[in-house]
Amino acid sequence: MEERLQKILARAGVSSRRAAEQLILTGRVQVDGQIITQLGCKVNASNARILVDGKAIGSEKKIYLLLNKPAGYITTLSDPQGRKLVTDLVRDIPERVFPVGRLDLDTEGALILTNDGAFAHSILHPSHEINRTYEALVRGQPSHNVIRRLSSGIELDGALTFPAKLRILRQESHRSLVEIIIHEGRKRQVRRMFQAVGHRVLHLRRTAYGNLRLNNLPLGHYRELSQVDIEQIFS
Ligand code: URA
Repeated sequence: MEERLQKILARAGVSSRRAAEQLILTGRVQVDGQIITQLGCKVNASNARILVDGKAIGSEKKIYLLLNKPAGYITTLSDPQGRKLVTDLVRDIPERVFPVGRLDLDTEGALILTNDGAFAHSILHPSHEINRTYEALVRGQPSHNVIRRLSSGIELDGALTFPAKLRILRQESHRSLVEIIIHEGRKRQVRRMFQAVGHRVLHLRRTAYGNLRLNNLPLGHYRELSQVDIEQIFS
C-alpha cells in the first residue's frame, strides 16, 4: 500500500505532517538510499527503508487481527460505489490495517487484517500452501463422484485446481453443507468449483486460515492475534 511520504513520517511519530514536508523539501529524508525532495513521492512503508537525518524511522507497531467478516462488506480499501468496507469494522484500531487477500462481498468468515506487508505477502504466497477452510451450503446433494472430481482438481480458466479436501457435514433433501479445504486463492474459487459440477453455492463462510479457527468469534467482531495464533496460521 503506497502512501505519501510525509504521511508515513507523521504516523511514525517523526513530526507533524507539515513539519515532515519541510524535512523532505530540505533533503533530510532518504528512501532506499535516495534523497527525496518531492512532496508527491509515494512509498510502501512496509518494505521501504526510510531514513531521516540518516536514522531509520521508528516504524508503526505491527498489528494482526482476525475478523469474522459479515456479508455486505468488501475487502478493498475504498469503493467508488460507497459500499461498506471491512476496515469500517476495525475503526477503533489506531494503526492503518489492510485485509490479507480477499473474500467476496457475500462471503462471511475469517479474514486477517494487518499493517505488516511482509507477513501478508508470506501468507498469500502459494509456496506456503496455507489451507483455507470453507463451509459451503450448496444446492442439492453432491454425489461421491462430484466430491471425487472436486477433490482431485477441476478445470477453471483453463488450469486445474489443486487437490482439495471435502467432506459432507450435513445433508437435507435440497441442500448440503460441505466443508472444503483449498490452498489457492483464485477469484470466487469455491463458488466456481461447485458451479462447475452443477451445485450452486447458496452461502459461503471461511471457518479457518491454516489452523487458526474462527471458533466463537461473533460475526462483525475481531480479535487481536497473539504470537501463538500467528503460528497456528502457518502450522
Ligand atoms: N471462494 C469464493 O468463491 N469466494 C470467496 O469469498 C472465497 C473463496
